[in-house]
Amino acid sequence: MCGIIGIASNKLVASNIIQSLKKLEYRGYDSAGIATIVNGEINEKKCAGRVENLEKMLFKNPSNGSLGIGHVRWATHGIPSKVNAHPHSSDEVSVVHNGIIENSNELKKDLEKKGYKFKSQTDTEVITNLLTDFLKDFDLVDAINKTLKTLNGSFALGIIFKKFNNIVVGARRGSPLAVGYGPEENYLGSDSYALKSMTNKITYLDDGDVCVLTNNKIDFYNSKNKKINKEILILSDDKNIAEKGEYKDFMSKEINEQNVTAKTCIKEYLDQLRKNINIYNFPINPKDIQKIVLIGCGTAYHSCITAKYWFEELTNIPIEIDIASEFRYRKIKLNKKNLYVFVSQSGETADTFAALDLCKKNKVKTCSIVNVVESSIARSSDFVLPIHAGPEIGVASTKAFIGQMLVLYILAIKISEVRKEISQSDYEKKINDLKKLPDLIKKTLNYCQDNTPIIAKDFLKAKGAMFLGRGLSFPIALEGALKLKELSYLHAEGYPAGEMKHGPLALIEEGLPVVILAPKDRYFEKTISNMQEVIARGGKVILITNESNNIISENIRFTLEIPKIDDYLTPFLMTVPLQLLAYNVASLKNCDIDKPRNLAKSVTVE
Ligand code: M6R
Repeated sequence: MCGIIGIASNKLVASNIIQSLKKLEYRGYDSAGIATIVNGEINEKKCAGRVENLEKMLFKNPSNGSLGIGHVRWATHGIPSKVNAHPHSSDEVSVVHNGIIENSNELKKDLEKKGYKFKSQTDTEVITNLLTDFLKDFDLVDAINKTLKTLNGSFALGIIFKKFNNIVVGARRGSPLAVGYGPEENYLGSDSYALKSMTNKITYLDDGDVCVLTNNKIDFYNSKNKKINKEILILSDDKNIAEKGEYKDFMSKEINEQNVTAKTCIKEYLDQLRKNINIYNFPINPKDIQKIVLIGCGTAYHSCITAKYWFEELTNIPIEIDIASEFRYRKIKLNKKNLYVFVSQSGETADTFAALDLCKKNKVKTCSIVNVVESSIARSSDFVLPIHAGPEIGVASTKAFIGQMLVLYILAIKISEVRKEISQSDYEKKINDLKKLPDLIKKTLNYCQDNTPIIAKDFLKAKGAMFLGRGLSFPIALEGALKLKELSYLHAEGYPAGEMKHGPLALIEEGLPVVILAPKDRYFEKTISNMQEVIARGGKVILITNESNNIISENIRFTLEIPKIDDYLTPFLMTVPLQLLAYNVASLKNCDIDKPRNLAKSVTVE
């Protein structure tokens, strides 16, 4: 994680650095810092906490200089504190870093023997001291190359120098980095989103690339130190730049716009007459697919589990699901007849990217389902299916989950149709049902706005909570539990309802909130029986169903009745009350909704 910005200009840069850092806070927000060149010297300012703290600091004591770097941190080595905040500077250089230097301990010992003193507990400070050391004996290019060669691990770096005070150097290995071209100034950034308010002309660095920026020129070098030309991309004029508007926070905006997210996504994938699904040019003929492997992390992984149920129902293809951080290290037999699908909102998640990279190296067919189409995962995969959700800023993934599930569902229907495993009439019915989804999401949102804050009060004194479901409601139970824990810091477990008797039932005690997801599908009666087992042991049940008739409800604390829809689409509607519940519990606890503790939006470290 961590976010990097660099600007080489002929005007003062601090204010643009701060504005860009605010955009990068989704990557980390435990400390922030800036370094500029002022009167030929490196001037470093940093603080613990949010960028606004840094901004206040600069308000009292401005950072001048027309060239500088900035950083937002998500701690890996060393606690979040001022001393561990980036940049890390010597008299000669100042460095901002995203990633992890795996051999930092060895390098630190060597440097200490040479007399270098370390102020922080970070792995980054070795880069500062290493570069300072090489600059004593080598010219700039050689010193940079020698430093990069000495480092193991992954990194994106931004560096400024006392002696070469008109350049910003960037380097990428494993962690994303882009440059932007402006009028009489150039930029370096962790992603195009941070640069978008300054320019729409972008170049992405590839692994091993180094770039040197001045205010009027950008040069690129590859890992063999050869000067290279790189493509300039013009970013689309995105009117959907994230602003909170009338909402208190991004998360409530993102939850409340999910009907629009669904509408946009469906529109993108259905043809004009809304009779067919527009997915062509598969990297592998669907008829030849032997197995589909769905890979992701966190919420994206939950969308993969949901998709497993859809694919198994709609096609005869065996489906595997995998957590990217496990997939990347297992001894998996990759097969050219399989399709490997990577799901990621950001498209930058390090584990998902590494899993994709493993597949690429083994030359198997890859497809990515992403929100950020300019992301590393999108750019590296054979085939990209965007979710068209627009920027998602809240750390807790909401509308992207809806988008990921939608694209996976649409993909399952399409593959089934191409393989002729679904009848034409069923195919048409599925498309028709899909078209109803956005309005029913809206209806569910309206219905849950008033009752979820009341239900949330019951969670305030609870030691924890459980979420239970069967079939397609099981991954939604996992997602409900994840949302509650990441937002409200309350322990929560998601379980397949039928699994309770194998252990977790022991957790049920008087007053424990248990959310039961029981749509009227083929599991309905069984889930209701599991609910009775919970009630019998004192659990405080919150039932979410689309069929409340005929349920003996006297011992149910709350029942939420969501609209009826085709069984396959129920997960979309079931998700909404769970998001709102987590949101309201967190609000009542005064938690930071958009930036929960210890987390970051884009997880670009292992
Ligand atoms: O950007 P990605 O979809 O690859 O991110 C994966 C997870 O880090 C992410 O879904 C995380 O679990 C969310 N914070 C959950 O709300």
